[in-house]
Amino acid sequence: MKILVIGSGGREHAIIKKLKENPAVTQLYAMPGNGGIAYDALCLGGSPTDGKAALGHAKAYGIDFAVVSPDDPLVRGVADTLRSAGIPTFGPSAQAAAIEGSKVFSKNLMKAYGIPTAEYDVFDNPAAAASCIEKGNRYPVVIKADGLALGKGVIIAQNLSEAQDALQHIMEDKIFGPSGNRVVVEEFLEGVEVTVLAFTDSKTIIPLVSSMDHKRAFDNDEGPNTGGMGVIAPNPWYTPEIAAECMARIFRPTIEAMNREGRPFKGCLYFGLMLTGSGPKVIEYNCRFGDPEAQAVLPLLETDLLTILQAVEETRLDKITVRFRGGASCCVILASGGYPGSYQTGLPITGLSQEQQDGVYVFHAGTALKEGVLVTAGGRVLGVTAWGDDLSQAIRRAYKEAAKIHFEDMYYRRDIGQKAGNMRS
Ligand code: AMP
Ligand code: GLY
Repeated sequence: MKILVIGSGGREHAIIKKLKENPAVTQLYAMPGNGGIAYDALCLGGSPTDGKAALGHAKAYGIDFAVVSPDDPLVRGVADTLRSAGIPTFGPSAQAAAIEGSKVFSKNLMKAYGIPTAEYDVFDNPAAAASCIEKGNRYPVVIKADGLALGKGVIIAQNLSEAQDALQHIMEDKIFGPSGNRVVVEEFLEGVEVTVLAFTDSKTIIPLVSSMDHKRAFDNDEGPNTGGMGVIAPNPWYTPEIAAECMARIFRPTIEAMNREGRPFKGCLYFGLMLTGSGPKVIEYNCRFGDPEAQAVLPLLETDLLTILQAVEETRLDKITVRFRGGASCCVILASGGYPGSYQTGLPITGLSQEQQDGVYVFHAGTALKEGVLVTAGGRVLGVTAWGDDLSQAIRRAYKEAAKIHFEDMYYRRDIGQKAGNMRS
């Protein structure tokens, strides 16, 4: 089988590595891929959002199955383009991807179907939004651009002036373009965050092992928000009791709500949850695997990934048993100095081991090959994942591997999984 994966990050590298384990997969293609993915797949040119280019490649290379991985192409209908041309494709339709593409849509969906989430209001008028915040006078308050915003559309304002600045930037200066035409202003939830990724074909839903992202740039959750600096899986706060409650009150109701809205969701649905004092609540949905969550969770998957993705596409997930390896995993992101702000690229990367060690994976997120040399090409450069019998062994092994790798100004958090470790001891 020939498979095309659309995307260029660590998540896509983790998907590709997993697909490669299936002996029926003869050739993998990535559009556009990156310097490390090039070792595992043939990298093809084109922007991930270019459905026409994806279809052109699919036809030219005789692709049997496609995986559309990132949010942007999904929201813009790249999976629909491929599917309607007869290419079996994993990834939700644009209609279903609205669950991530519009925060107003997803909040209204939760409200209409009684799915627990933060209280909120929607505004398309900056003055009305500002006056609601002044009247509310409760901080922190969370302000979210409606549309996709490169993962930067959520602002947690600590006081009135931060909230006013956020509204100014999003709604008036339009720093996220039309994504800021509407905003959601919502209640700040307190508690522990959990990510649950779930395969669903719109009838059956199968959650993967839970995880915990670390979003802030620096140790002790300090510094600016990033795309994610490290992950542990499973998330020790996510007990079987909480999982059962989430299935009954959040996961199944979400799938049913999407069906009732005429937007059946088939793909990987990402539940960003807050375990609050009054039960689990949805912080956000994403229409895809999380990144870096996928880099910690997919290595724990024992069942063949392609078999699952095909079952989702063919709406026969009920026939599949999805198994996971026991133990735990830890993924540490190695980032460029300055990320999530500006950073240098093109810096040579050294210390990557050539031989594969059992349970240790180095996923490439922002790398490129320049005259045969592997160099940095993004803010998040590599994801080092290790498996362990337990969380502390996984953490130790991931950091041991990370310490061997070097590029100028490289930085990474030293405390991934530490809070969870403290909780258990
Ligand atoms: P993003 O992944 O950019 O959408 O950022 C979402 C992050 O903002 C979440 O992972 C939370 O840490 C935080 N967040 C979003 N909404 C809320 C909320 N209502 N209460 C508390 N934290 C929130
Ligand atoms: N790690 C968060 C996300 O994928 O959106």
